[in-house]
Amino acid sequence: MVTSASPTTDPTTDPVAPSPGTPAVITPGEGAAAFEQDVDPVSPNRNLAPLTAQLDGLGRLWVGGCLLSDLARTYGTPLYVLDEATLRATCRAYRLALAEHYPGEALALYASKANSSLAITALVASEGLGLDAVSAGELLTALQGGMPAERIVLHGNNKSAEELQLAIARGVTVVLDNWSDIELLQGLAASRPDPVRLLVRFTPGIECHTHEYIRTGHLDSKFGFDPDQLEAVLRHLAGCPWARVDGLHAHIGSQIFELEPHRDLAGVMAEALALARSLGHPCGDLNVGGGLGIRYVGSDDPPSIQEWVRVVATAVAEACRQRQLALPRLLCEPGRSLVATAGITLYTVGSRKEIPELRTYLSVDGGMSDNPRPITYQSLYTAVLADRPLAEATETVTVAGKHCESGDVLLRDVRLPAAAAGDVLTVFATGAYNAAMGSNYNRIPRPAAVLVHEGVADVVQRREQPEDLLRYDVLPARLAPVT
Ligand code: LLP
Repeated sequence: MVTSASPTTDPTTDPVAPSPGTPAVITPGEGAAAFEQDVDPVSPNRNLAPLTAQLDGLGRLWVGGCLLSDLARTYGTPLYVLDEATLRATCRAYRLALAEHYPGEALALYASKANSSLAITALVASEGLGLDAVSAGELLTALQGGMPAERIVLHGNNKSAEELQLAIARGVTVVLDNWSDIELLQGLAASRPDPVRLLVRFTPGIECHTHEYIRTGHLDSKFGFDPDQLEAVLRHLAGCPWARVDGLHAHIGSQIFELEPHRDLAGVMAEALALARSLGHPCGDLNVGGGLGIRYVGSDDPPSIQEWVRVVATAVAEACRQRQLALPRLLCEPGRSLVATAGITLYTVGSRKEIPELRTYLSVDGGMSDNPRPITYQSLYTAVLADRPLAEATETVTVAGKHCESGDVLLRDVRLPAAAAGDVLTVFATGAYNAAMGSNYNRIPRPAAVLVHEGVADVVQRREQPEDLLRYDVLPARLAPVT
């Protein structure tokens, strides 16, 4: 089993290989507009392509020093490709921006629901970040990937006793979401010598929409305590020797381009912090959640990581100063903005169906099982042909997946150069909520994932095999075929 390989074309000796270090400003077939923006070297969430995307002398696309069409040949498609340099740059962007803009201690926790794996955990841990997990599975991945327990928080609006037990046994901070968490923990932790470290999550009453936000007293959310109950919860916990309320948590949404809601969140949270401390809780942490958006298509224009952190950090510091509160440690939980742009997906083009004067379908060998976001949220993506990203777009096509579902469309009405069966299609910004939300619909095995860095590709997720899909099937003896 190959777990690590150099690309067949060596970037250090191949005369057409791109010279290292200069990121490409790619101008692909799909309206040059999609890529003509300058590459932002310090805030990857503002780019479409990973930072190491480069074109060689033949105009072919390389990422992480690996020729994408080579990766497709070597590892098969669909293939998730994760660029280590982009992921590390994003981690660093959060770390440095927090150090620059927040006068107190700060830590970014990677929201691992975006893409949970041993390799990503190890990378994120080595960059000094922490991690947010929402299940025993994500928690085990984090612990086994080398994330120190004291840098992990466990979320969840319906945690099982087993999940809570695992968290407290390993010294992971638990984010209290509701009364049921409190009851379960009371039973599990009351006899323990040390109190359980807790953050209390509440609904802050700030709802974000794409272009506006509203503030309401009560939000219809399944997550966290209603703000009206916060005081009662904190009073109750003040009488629980097993509980140590180390901070508060709130999260307002995802793929947010506005900064104002996060500025407002700081005020709401500082008010709650004042209340919690007045009731005797240490409350040294303030966790403002995640939510910063990324660029999926050329017209998306998210703020940079630096700008987001500056606004959040300044607002928290100012809100605390106004209320004469000692500065808490500032925690945030970026998911998408940390990992999405580092990831791309490679597909092989297969069949074509032309419906005169209506539509041309180009089908690829993956679809809604490896990227359920278009069918779930009508999300838009940007794609290029891996070996001809600059070729002139000559047709408008709809890129369809291979699943038995009419809505299984990855990109609708996109301009591409004429593509033939066997061409490798690259879809950008698939590092978040693609693999993590994938399925085996139609019993299609999950793709492999490779981590690319300086010309080396490491398999970090093996490709599922059709036999793997039968592993948990049980055929009762009375139904077994008679041989
Ligand atoms: N913290 C909490 C408590 C969260 O619920 C989330 C995301 C995050 C942090 C990370 O948010 P981010 O930085 O990634 O925006 N499946 C959807 C996104 C669901 C987000 C759920 N919570 C999608 O594909 O767009």
